[in-house]
Amino acid sequence: MRFTVLTLFPEMIYGATDHSIFKRGLEQGHLQLDCVNIRDFSGNKHNQVDDYPYGGGLGMVMKARPIYDAYQHALSKRPSTQKNPRFIYLTPAGKPLTQAIANELANEEALFLLCGHYEGIDERVIEEIVTDEISIGDYVLTGGELAALVLMDCVARLVPGVLGKEGSFADESFMSGLLEYPQYTRPAEVLGRSVPDVLLSGDHGAVEKWRREQSLQRTQSRRPDLL
Ligand code: 6GU
Repeated sequence: MRFTVLTLFPEMIYGATDHSIFKRGLEQGHLQLDCVNIRDFSGNKHNQVDDYPYGGGLGMVMKARPIYDAYQHALSKRPSTQKNPRFIYLTPAGKPLTQAIANELANEEALFLLCGHYEGIDERVIEEIVTDEISIGDYVLTGGELAALVLMDCVARLVPGVLGKEGSFADESFMSGLLEYPQYTRPAEVLGRSVPDVLLSGDHGAVEKWRREQSLQRTQSRRPDLL
């Protein structure tokens, strides 16, 4: 999976992906990541990429041309035989990100992501190049970078090879449509609390049944909307 992120803050993207599983995915070649700095395509000597909104109002709007030129630059780096990738604009006005959407996006060979700032982006460049608008939840962030990182993280772990043990995500929360059961590790007693006996029983069938019940109970009490 090759991610290309159009952003005013490439260091946010590179900084947050330089750790843990995402970093290993890059090193092992399962993932590729490039940022294009929209400011490099300002086209003016003050490097200005935003301007006042037509019709008035508070805040600034990101200009269409620098984003369009950054996009053309990113496209020009791809082999001409490849089809244009989906281009996702991260915005609170987008479709809410779900595991189903992540699964679908993980089947793509490349994704372009657009991070906005200020009050928004000139609608015309969105109409021209964006294929998908996605939100990561019903709250407002200062910019799209954290949303792009959330999306990339959740897609990356679905790319074959990125997680060490293939399929180790199969029974996690949301994959089954249920929340995950509680987990325990050594020691058998800590903070005055013991591990549930069934997990020490060695009875795999009983463990399976207990976990399933825990998942159901948790989902019922915490996220009944998922059932
Ligand atoms: Cl994708 N962007 C911003 N700025 N805020 C958000 C969001 C995205 N998703 C939820 N809040």
